Amino acid sequence: MADKSVNSGNFFHEQALDRDCTTLSRHVLQQLKSFGPDAQDLSALMTRIGLAGKLIARRLSRAGLMEGVLGLTGEVNVQGEDVKKMDLFANEVFIAAFKQSGLVCRLASEEMDKPYYIPENCPIGRYTLLYDPIDGSSNVDHNLNVGSIFSIRQQEGEDLDGTAQDLLQSGRKQIAAGYILYGPSTMLVYSIGQGVHAFALDPSLGEFILACENMIIPDHGPTYSVNEGNFWDWDESIRQYVRYVHRQPGYSARYSGALVGDIHRILFQGGVFLYPGTTKNPQGKLRLLYETAPLGFLVEQAGGKASTGSENLLDVVPDHLHARTPLVLGSRQNVELVESFIQNNPQAESTFVQV
Ligand code: AHG
Ligand code: MN
Ligand code: MN
Repeated sequence: MADKSVNSGNFFHEQALDRDCTTLSRHVLQQLKSFGPDAQDLSALMTRIGLAGKLIARRLSRAGLMEGVLGLTGEVNVQGEDVKKMDLFANEVFIAAFKQSGLVCRLASEEMDKPYYIPENCPIGRYTLLYDPIDGSSNVDHNLNVGSIFSIRQQEGEDLDGTAQDLLQSGRKQIAAGYILYGPSTMLVYSIGQGVHAFALDPSLGEFILACENMIIPDHGPTYSVNEGNFWDWDESIRQYVRYVHRQPGYSARYSGALVGDIHRILFQGGVFLYPGTTKNPQGKLRLLYETAPLGFLVEQAGGKASTGSENLLDVVPDHLHARTPLVLGSRQNVELVESFIQNNPQAESTFVQV
């Protein structure tokens, strides 16, 4: 064996090179300890998702300099929300990234009423990609952080009538999930059920390079993220929780308008994100299949907790493609505290917090 003290220069050089070569595709293979067909598929899937992320990041970084990037399309999507030009562009980028991939037969997204088929892939494409092309699109025109959320499921059955009944299953059916955060740097965070790993886009290489492996969310964190503008539309139990944290020393509110950004902070720092139901929308705003379930999968993989307030989020079975769920997501203790209010048994924080 080489003497590392003699060759220490070489050793560190090799380490640095190895670090720079830990790309997304290599990391997936490394995780699965296999070069078999399933591992190759997942690795290729992640590479294509990474490509979509790079194309979206490139467009966002030029948004103020190009015509036709910002603003509304004038259309309203299946959710009844005004569609931004970036929503449409990003939606199409994911489709284009998977054309001629032989991987994904079908894509389903927030911006499409029904799933989109790529017929040339279908004879062998065994996967469905579910995604939110731009999460937090109200931030887009103001040069603030936005994200993309993705989830991969096995395609089960033929889905001949295009109703995607096979997708109406719980979040536990996800093979992989994650998000891309378009912030000061672009980061991709993913899990294939073996921990949570963060990659930063190195613009000089055009590659996502491993930045943080096996992320663990703190058991308790100092922030709560919720849109308090909805205060009088919530159930009294949520109001009581918020009044409670107002009185607790050490809590800060953080709400960016993009779920991906808020969850990214919580993964590193701990805390809780809430989007409860309101009187008008008892299921809240966020969609299960391509928003809450993928992020729930990630947070659980990082040791946190994903809940609707009354049940485990990953057990919820949607009744249609665009079904919504209330969301309480983040550090285990913070989530349990919110649940205790919702279940009408408010716990004193001291039961949970170890300072
Ligand atoms: P989207 O842009 O995909 O529709 O998602 C927006 C979501 C989420 O990112 C954010 O946390 C939340 O909606 C903000 O909604 P409110 O403005 O109602 O707080
Ligand atoms: Mn969203
Ligand atoms: Mn969106």
